[in-house]
Amino acid sequence: MKITPFALERYFAKHEFTAPYLLCCSDCEALTMSDLLTLADESSLRLWQDLKLGYTESMGHPLLREEIVQLYDSITPNEVLVTVPEEGIYIAMNNLLQQGDHIVVTGPGYQSLSEVATSLGCNISFWMPKWEERNGWQFKIEDMLCLVTKNTKLIVINFPHNPTGCVLCEAEMNKVVEIARERNMSIFSDEMYRYLEHDPSLRLPSVAEIYEKGIALSGLSKSFALPGLRIGWLISKDKTLLQSCAYFKDYTTICSSAPSEVLGLIGLRAKEQILKRNIEIISKNLNLLDTFFNRYAHLFAWHRPLASTIALPKLLINKPVTSYCDDLIEKSGVMLLPAPLFGLDDQYFRIGFGRKNLPEALARWEAHLC
Ligand SMILES: Cc1ncc(COP(=O)(O)O)c(C=O)c1O
Repeated sequence: MKITPFALERYFAKHEFTAPYLLCCSDCEALTMSDLLTLADESSLRLWQDLKLGYTESMGHPLLREEIVQLYDSITPNEVLVTVPEEGIYIAMNNLLQQGDHIVVTGPGYQSLSEVATSLGCNISFWMPKWEERNGWQFKIEDMLCLVTKNTKLIVINFPHNPTGCVLCEAEMNKVVEIARERNMSIFSDEMYRYLEHDPSLRLPSVAEIYEKGIALSGLSKSFALPGLRIGWLISKDKTLLQSCAYFKDYTTICSSAPSEVLGLIGLRAKEQILKRNIEIISKNLNLLDTFFNRYAHLFAWHRPLASTIALPKLLINKPVTSYCDDLIEKSGVMLLPAPLFGLDDQYFRIGFGRKNLPEALARWEAHLC
């Protein structure tokens, strides 16, 4: 199998561990071990202390799966397969697709959502949002509908969306499901940023809950501030599909890391505290960004997104955003992500607002603005 290098990961590999101000990350400020263990209840602390470092159950620790289903209204533990988040994409695409299939994928996006399919020999059409000067990025259902053909096998969506922070409303999501159901297409829904809606009333049910041919990915890396655990999950009511994904996992990781499963369980049992902390960081940072972009409205076009830890503002000066970001990181140590890494015009950049040092990063940026 041949696969194109992951542009965003390569860019991160170059700068992530040397640039002091990462103003582009999509995760929330990671919890420390002691933060997490402080949140543990007595029984999970005992699980942690008595943990045997053996292999674990391939579908995922039963207690972890029981905790995962609490994030949904109508998912049962046997509809959950624990995977590394990125691995979940790889496994699901390999089970859903064959050479020659056509798929529609939200773009610009997390590269593996399209790249794994490309490497399998599929044809991809990107459902792109439009940039509206008044409202920022907008996904239109009619644009998606135009891309669907009689050969379309799968719709891949990612809401809340990386990198724009867009969400669909309930009626739009129902329309996507209706389009898929009418044509007997599957939906893969990347829901890694679910629970980071800035207003909880915007949170939608998982696609796996509302569509019998839906499969959803989520995990602890973004909303739960635990990316280092490498814990995610696939959920689906399609038992045959989930079973074949589980069989495929025997060729990737077989089972998850035992310590990560127990730490993940501790995190999910303390989800209220963790989510509250993350939303507080995000809200404070968004207020600072509103002020910053207001002050520099002649340089940047900014629209506060409705969800997630990321947004994709526009650079208004006459300079390719890639050189702007290169110069900025060199002069100030502040890292932004130029949109060409997502296959988009050299005009937009991804900014991340889930980290605690955003105020310092903004101050550095302000000192080196042009
Ligand atoms: C939309 C989306 N899906 C999946 C992933 C993969 O998560 P992880 O890096 O924890 O494997 C990411 C990570 O950035 C993402 O943004």
